[in-house]
Amino acid sequence: FVTLCGWVQAIRDKGGLVWIDVRDRYGVTQVQVSRGTMPLLVDRVRRLTLESVVQVKGKVVERTAKNSAMPTGDVEVVPTEIVVLSKAGLLPFDLQKRTEREGLRMAHRYLDLRRGLLQENLLLRHRVAEAIRGFLNGHGFLEVETPLLVKSTPEGASDFVVPTRYEKAYYALPQSPQLLKQLLMVGGVDRYYQLAKCLRDEDLRENRQPEFTQVDLEASFVTGQDVMDLCEKMVQYVWRRVIGVDLPRFPRITYEEAMERYGTDKPDLRWDMPFVNITKEANATGVAMFEAAGTVLAMCVRGGARYSRKMLEGVQCLVKEHHPSIPYLVYVKWPQGGRARASVHGLEEGRVAQWLERAGAMAGDLLLVVGGAKLSAVAALREVRGEVIKVGSIPPQKSYAPLWVTDFPLFEKGGDGQFRAVHHPFTAPRASDVALLDGSPGSVFSQAYDLVINGEEVGSGSIRIHDAALQRKVLRQLGLDDARIKERFGFLLRAFSYGAPPHGGMALGLARLCCLLGGRSSAIRDYIAFPKNNQGRDTMMGAPSRLEKVGEGA
Ligand code: AMO
Repeated sequence: FVTLCGWVQAIRDKGGLVWIDVRDRYGVTQVQVSRGTMPLLVDRVRRLTLESVVQVKGKVVERTAKNSAMPTGDVEVVPTEIVVLSKAGLLPFDLQKRTEREGLRMAHRYLDLRRGLLQENLLLRHRVAEAIRGFLNGHGFLEVETPLLVKSTPEGASDFVVPTRYEKAYYALPQSPQLLKQLLMVGGVDRYYQLAKCLRDEDLRENRQPEFTQVDLEASFVTGQDVMDLCEKMVQYVWRRVIGVDLPRFPRITYEEAMERYGTDKPDLRWDMPFVNITKEANATGVAMFEAAGTVLAMCVRGGARYSRKMLEGVQCLVKEHHPSIPYLVYVKWPQGGRARASVHGLEEGRVAQWLERAGAMAGDLLLVVGGAKLSAVAALREVRGEVIKVGSIPPQKSYAPLWVTDFPLFEKGGDGQFRAVHHPFTAPRASDVALLDGSPGSVFSQAYDLVINGEEVGSGSIRIHDAALQRKVLRQLGLDDARIKERFGFLLRAFSYGAPPHGGMALGLARLCCLLGGRSSAIRDYIAFPKNNQGRDTMMGAPSRLEKVGEGA
């Protein structure tokens, strides 16, 4: 005998028999009611509505017609009693269909959560969090909670602000626990971690939520190398434990190299298609267009000689439309057993052969060449790379391509000419560059590192400044005067004056990790129980909304 509680997923009625599928978190079980033996029950079952919650008491019997597609397909339950615990009204959408009506599903997220896919996602997230905790606990890290009501902790986005009972006095919700984890180091905690809620009022994208969770960690007396090694081991551990995949050591490239070879600081190395600078070779062709171009970049596409002219013209159009400053996209097809042919006239065969050799091309490959001002050429070829992978349906060479990107500049110039922190204002400059902070801040490198997996920034961290004078200097370079520095960051500078250990750390986006581990083309909101929609709103609760009276929420 069993008692089964769950939701009515389907009702099938045939002759004197009625079957219902009862679903709970662990699966679906068929219940069979026969008119001959239970006429009253059959009538009740027929009146059941889909997604009602029922309690079925009965006997498990072997099915006559087994269903091998279902884990419980060999058995069914013959009930003695069915109690309706909660009757479901008319549903806003069919739960069993992956309806395209995203808005409707978001507004009824609790119904969407009943689907197997989202249940699996929550389970995966649970297992990832469990593995991370296990790993960090095993490495002596202490889980410490930090407050949600804080003073602004700038990470480059706008703050969500919380009014208080005091006039003109507001809390900010933390964009990350950055300053608090640094203060924990000053407090002697030595190794901290937290699955931390972060809140940022920023433009949303597929991989961004205004409220998200970081695997946040910090340690004292470490080098950047130590933090990268630890995080790499943690990610490898998670991959092995959760999906049984062994990730080899993560390659490391500098920011400059990433930009030159892939046109982005988040290269997707599942495809080995780097850019090669052939400016010198192009200039030597004697063809005017190549001589005028500035920087000439080439990219080899393995097996690309088979692409149709139509497809390649499509890519050329894309460049024309999105990158009007780029004068051309030339291609060279090198068919198997044939001669390489360029899409423009006047190029000597020997010159073309030189390009092909520089780019490592072989027979069967395609070479794509763009020229222009360096930054524009890089940006155009980056888009071309993505487009060719897509329209050429080029399969990835591996499922996961993690890498570290290091040696970022400390500052970048904003449109207003003012320096901004490339990471955040608490990132330490490279020790050997500190002397350059006054004279040429634009050339200072930082001690930051990003973890990129499959073209996605999964984590970011750095060694921090732990010296008040240096911190003040960096904040000044960011345009803050001493009064504002004192007002906003006085507490941090004061803390540094009482003995601060050198420290560094990192934060990884938990949902982004899950998304990659899930392996499906999904968005991070698929790994968040109650995400915001793409306008940053919670359409289920109807938030954000007006308050009756600020401070009297209830
Ligand atoms: P950063 O701002 O780079 O660094 O964030 C670290 C990681 O958090 C994830 N992430 C997000 N995930 C979902 N939605 C968002 N809106 C979002 N923003 C960021 C990304 C990112 O790599 N305090 C520093 C870390 C440090 O220096 O230790 C910080 O927050 O995966």
